[in-house]
Amino acid sequence: MTKKLYIKTYGCQMNQYDSGKIIDVLNSKEKIEISDNPEDADIVVLNTCSIREKAEDKVYSELGRLRKIKEKNSNLKIAVAGCVASQEGEKIIKRAPYVNLVFGPQDLHKTNELLEKSDSIPVVETTFDEIKKFDEMPQVSRSESSVFLTIMEGCSKFCTFCVVPYTRGEEVSRNLDSILKEVVDLIKNGATEITLLGQNVNAFTAVWEDRQLRIGDLIQIIAEFDEIKRIRFTTSHPNDVDKNLLDCYQSVPKLANQFHLPVQSGSDDILRRMKRDYTKQKYIEIISEIKKIRPDIPISSDFIVGFPGEKKSDFHETMELVEEVKFDNSYSFIYSQRPGTPAAGMKDNVSDAEKKQRLDELQELLNIYATERSEKLFGSIQSCLVTGKSKKNKDEYQARTECNRVVNFASNGIDLAGQLVNIRVNDVLANSLRGTIEH
Ligand code: SAH
Ligand code: SF4
Ligand code: F3S
Repeated sequence: MTKKLYIKTYGCQMNQYDSGKIIDVLNSKEKIEISDNPEDADIVVLNTCSIREKAEDKVYSELGRLRKIKEKNSNLKIAVAGCVASQEGEKIIKRAPYVNLVFGPQDLHKTNELLEKSDSIPVVETTFDEIKKFDEMPQVSRSESSVFLTIMEGCSKFCTFCVVPYTRGEEVSRNLDSILKEVVDLIKNGATEITLLGQNVNAFTAVWEDRQLRIGDLIQIIAEFDEIKRIRFTTSHPNDVDKNLLDCYQSVPKLANQFHLPVQSGSDDILRRMKRDYTKQKYIEIISEIKKIRPDIPISSDFIVGFPGEKKSDFHETMELVEEVKFDNSYSFIYSQRPGTPAAGMKDNVSDAEKKQRLDELQELLNIYATERSEKLFGSIQSCLVTGKSKKNKDEYQARTECNRVVNFASNGIDLAGQLVNIRVNDVLANSLRGTIEH
């Protein structure tokens, strides 16, 4: 009998990649059916995130809902994976004793044996056996045109606010063979767009025939596969942007015209206290290097407001940086104190109201530049990768521009999923574009 799995993913794209891998691992033992309702599932997996307090809270409230379902179906297996699992470990079982299994991001290749073990007693497995999971991964069991591919795990930057080095471990790159094997496997399953992933993806390094490879080399190698039409990578740290990567913007047309480069703050004082190891000036210099190659490239970023000790003048430096770079679609967050991080011991002297006010101001400014960029697309022809049928209108398809905006268009009944098409943008809406296909 096929087992039904309900899997919910929180947090970053690496977690989405990991959820796909959990499905592959389960499928390698017996056929799994994905269910969108935990009430008729045999196994529930919450793949969790602890980057900010709110992300963590969501997990515990979801567990509260699952408890009621388990009261009606005692055979239901509940598993907590991901970064909250790694951070909280045993504490999850203490707080929610009806959970059967807690396992960390580096243990997911063991999902089947851990689930089996948890038949009798709750199991907690949060090791840092990093890269081993990639050696023991089964074949890809899902077909998708736009796929994620994790090329490195963890992070050794230890920014003072961030929990990632503690939940995912220190930086480890996958070896080239295992990455390329997966690329071939993904292509067999219909992949045409690959997003290379890592919390610090541009720190990737591998050895090949005595040569030290960097992410730029890997992008060049993957671009050689005809089936792959577009390549992306995320997330980069400014200090690891090297010539090898910049050269790809020149020599690899398949590399999407977009760069996500988190800055966090525009104040040198705050950047130093965050341990980001660059200054505002250095960040601006990196952007101008990129723009020498692709002058129009949209740059997006991540920002934190209300970091301990952030003064009004620090915040204004962040606003000035936004005005200078004119960032495209970016993410911005209120600082959240994370257990065990160095910043948790710093005096948090910015009031909640002030933090909220700064976030609103920042988001308003970011929104102005992102909207301006969308409006500039009106009337232009964009190279778009078709991701599948539109969610709202089944006669329409959905695609993404290089700058990652969603475009809806009519296909006249032709199946275009996975293909690169030219679309003329003739409507700019708040969160998407509409267009017509150009032949
Ligand atoms: N490795 C990437 C991104 C890591 S997590 C980088 O170095 O930029 C994604 C984003 O979450 C971060 O860029 C940061 O903006 C935000 N973030 C991380 N920890 C946070 C915290 N404690 N409070 C608020 N935002 C946080
Ligand atoms: Fe966290 Fe990114 Fe800093 Fe690493 S580089 S510690 S993932 S914010
Ligand atoms: Fe969250 Fe872990 Fe990703 S903390 S952002 S799921 S690496």
